[in-house]
Amino acid sequence: GRVAVLLGGTSSEREVSLDSGRNVIEALRARGVDATAVDGIPALARALVEKRFDRVFNILHGHNGGGEDGIVQGLMEAFGVPYTGSDVLGSALGMDKIRTKQVWLSVGLPTPQYRKVTAETVHAQARELGLPVVVKPANEGSSVGISRVMDEAGLDEAVALASRYDGQLLMEQMVVGDELTVGILGDVALPSIRIVPKGQWYDYNAKYVADDTQYLCPGLEGEDEAEIRRLALAAFQAAGCRGWGRVDVMRDRASGRLYLLEVNTAPGMTSHSLVPKAAGQVGIGFEELVWRVLEQTLP
Ligand code: DAL
Ligand code: MG
Repeated sequence: GRVAVLLGGTSSEREVSLDSGRNVIEALRARGVDATAVDGIPALARALVEKRFDRVFNILHGHNGGGEDGIVQGLMEAFGVPYTGSDVLGSALGMDKIRTKQVWLSVGLPTPQYRKVTAETVHAQARELGLPVVVKPANEGSSVGISRVMDEAGLDEAVALASRYDGQLLMEQMVVGDELTVGILGDVALPSIRIVPKGQWYDYNAKYVADDTQYLCPGLEGEDEAEIRRLALAAFQAAGCRGWGRVDVMRDRASGRLYLLEVNTAPGMTSHSLVPKAAGQVGIGFEELVWRVLEQTLP
């Protein structure tokens, strides 16, 4: 059947999505699939009315016109058109880092202590949590709007930056240690990846621009690796997610404990992205990965 590859949109991750989407289209076409780019939700809505596609590969990142927050999933449900990835609930929950953490905590899954903050409350709340902290927009991706704050003087600027992207702000205790991520494909957690950025942080630049970020896969060894995969899969499922995605995790250097950060329900598929690297480690090439995700929409 005809596949719409939903990409682009108007979120802060538009450029990332265009890049991911181009790669997905190329891979689908290489497998003989009739795949067409559809840029953004209004264009998809028109295509659905005109019945131009039989299924949708959703690689539209983010929210505010992105495809990761449940809105477009509702549209596709309403038209009865199958689509890749998480449904309305899993997408909406996964986009909201605060509510994702609340769900994880309610089932006993570990995530850094946090507060919902505002410009007025941030100083008092940072004292409660203890510095260093990380300030984030509650609903963003690709590290957009995130600051690591080492001392109180940095708090106001961090809040101002995060507020540019979202009204809801999240402040977390900073886990000092290794940054890891676990791709999920169906009911399977792929090998973890440990990210070693050349600079101090795995920020937007380290994610998509720099070529000196190092990726170790599997990221951990033995029982530790088994544990992170179990934890990530449990976190993905607890958040109501399905199909495929990626769970970001921190490992405290001193204690070795794992802390869940967030889930991504339309993870990046750029040449720098992580799910393709993890899949590659177990012999699933990029084309095969894309195919397996699409296959989930088949009856
Ligand atoms: N939000 C970006 C696309 C990712 O998680 O890969
Ligand atoms: Mg994310």
